[in-house]
Amino acid sequence: MVFRERQPRDKGIVEHDRLMELHLYPGNQCNRDCSFCTVFGHPNGEYAEYTFEHLDAALRTVMLHQQGTLKFYGGEPTLHHQNVIEAIAYLRQQGYLGAVVIYSNGIQAERLLQILESDPLGQTTASLNYSIATGEGAPPMPRKSLEQLETYEVEHPGAIAIGHADIVDSGRGVDPFTGVATRSQDSARCPHCYPVLTTSGKFHACPFAVENPAPHFQLGEIHSNATGVSQNFQAFLHWLDSVHEPYAVKHDLPACTVCWKHLDQLPIPTFVDE
Ligand SMILES: C[S@@+](CC[C@H](N)C(=O)[O-])C[C@H]1O[C@@H](n2cnc3c(N)ncnc32)[C@H](O)[C@@H]1O
Ligand code: SF4
Ligand code: SF4
Repeated sequence: MVFRERQPRDKGIVEHDRLMELHLYPGNQCNRDCSFCTVFGHPNGEYAEYTFEHLDAALRTVMLHQQGTLKFYGGEPTLHHQNVIEAIAYLRQQGYLGAVVIYSNGIQAERLLQILESDPLGQTTASLNYSIATGEGAPPMPRKSLEQLETYEVEHPGAIAIGHADIVDSGRGVDPFTGVATRSQDSARCPHCYPVLTTSGKFHACPFAVENPAPHFQLGEIHSNATGVSQNFQAFLHWLDSVHEPYAVKHDLPACTVCWKHLDQLPIPTFVDE
């Protein structure tokens, strides 16, 4: 396997009301339905395309310089690859200089490579689903797709990374994960992810819990101002440390299980009206 893990970056960084990273989510439609999937990915899942209005909200909220990172996930981004290519083109036309990461299961390798190649700044890379790239815990991707992606990575080192082996206890991953023992459930602590902007028009605090509608995660709407969204993100991080983690420790629960099954026991973070 030629793919390497991406190095983790600092958490919770906000500069002039702009987030260092933002996830973009068009719904959970997918060509797989992994037993552990945090977002309940499925062929019959939801999908709504990226629009200029949605991308403008991302451009107001994320750092626009080289430190900024926009992460397209889902669902499976290659199912609607032309929309992703158009979205990246629009972000670049509007002056976005940061990185773009595409989270993909790699099955539609050709389309994934078209997305990477489309970026005029050459700053779009991919991150592959660990299970589908290795066959540990899910059926592997077709051999031809894997070979195509491996060849591309050899020719363009760093263009395609592989995701983490750890499974968090979130979404469909809460109870029934049937993966082999080599995939640990190292989910005791919250990873303090950056938030998500959904094409349904919401800023949600957690990419792993994006299908969880609890008010604890609602950072704002598509027309909210960037100051309100960034303040609410910081309020959420404070709540994670001061309310959520003490509860998880006291009840000896994995962090994500608290979010999926116990939020009715916890107060909502102190959000501002944006
Ligand atoms: C939700 S998927 C969406 C993008 C694409 N379909 C894929 O699988 O890469 C994004 C990432 O979340 C990871 N993921 C899904 N469920 C997970 C879980 N329970 N714990 C940790 N990571 C998970 C996937 O392996 C993938 O790397
Ligand atoms: S982890 Fe990715 S490939 Fe698997 S079902 Fe979820 S969205 Fe689809
Ligand atoms: S603990 Fe909650 S906020 Fe943190 S990753 Fe898990 S679901 Fe998301």
